[in-house]
Amino acid sequence: MSAPAPAPAPALIVVPPDLPRDWLDPVFDHPGLEVIVGLDALPEARQPELVGLMCLLSTPIDEALLSRFPALRVVANVAVGYDNVDTAACLRHGVRVGNTPGVLTDATADLAMTLLLAAARGLVEAREDALAGRWQKWKPDRWLGVELRGAKLGVVGLGQIGYAVARRASAFGMDILYHSRSPKPEAERSLGARRCTLDELLAASDFVSLHVPLSPETHRLIDAAALARMKPTATLINTARGAVLDQDALIAALHAGRLRAAALDVTEPEPLPPEHPLFSAPRCLVLPHVGSATATTRRRMTELACANLIAGVEGRALPAAIDLGAG
Ligand code: DGY
Repeated sequence: MSAPAPAPAPALIVVPPDLPRDWLDPVFDHPGLEVIVGLDALPEARQPELVGLMCLLSTPIDEALLSRFPALRVVANVAVGYDNVDTAACLRHGVRVGNTPGVLTDATADLAMTLLLAAARGLVEAREDALAGRWQKWKPDRWLGVELRGAKLGVVGLGQIGYAVARRASAFGMDILYHSRSPKPEAERSLGARRCTLDELLAASDFVSLHVPLSPETHRLIDAAALARMKPTATLINTARGAVLDQDALIAALHAGRLRAAALDVTEPEPLPPEHPLFSAPRCLVLPHVGSATATTRRRMTELACANLIAGVEGRALPAAIDLGAG
């Protein structure tokens, strides 16, 4: 009788150290995986064995990283945006990449709407005035915001999140304009949304909300010229990526009173240093990239990343794969 074949060695994977341990149960509980927490904890001698890597959007997945791990088969990004990933390099190295679409749509759309409402009613300035002792009596003409009903919202990029924002804004009585590569008949039918060029959208909107992924085509899409097309009474919301916007041009527009307000959940760089002029620009609300930050959503993102990682290690189709050919 021949001896039983030895069990295959477990596949080596690395997960980020910043995720709560129980969100990662799917990989820790999965048979056949050896899980190391944090790339820094991976001994150099074992780098050639690494098969799967889970990463956050702050980790660049580039040529330098990929060439350290010749056995790497899959990268699972715990984010829907993947501008941290050099897709061409992944294609060259035969590494598949997963992301986390869908599960963060509602949380991110809620946050975009929160920013829109906060900017519309000047919440930050009103609170600062109150704290600074400038709330002396109730004054009918003080802290006047703008109404949403009848205002125009221009959605730049009507993907899942853009559409979810448009649905919310429509429920507040806003008229929806959108700029998107392809027409969105469902949004046109159900929300009365109207597709237009970016220039038309910028010129007509009272609020502009950015929802495009960061790519070479969208880098600084909203530059000084684009900001100059916006109404001086308009408000800009960015929950996409900081580099979609020319921040210096935005700061100049706010100081010159050429834009009513801005509310940003994303910046360039991240984290934004506290002394950055965006923080002191007038009527500018800046948040530390919290669009998807609910416990439910962050756990779902991690679980989808776990599913991508396991599928990639086992050579199956990823539940949410990035099309690397699309660049
Ligand atoms: C993403 O997933 O791309 C977000 O920016 C992080 O929530």
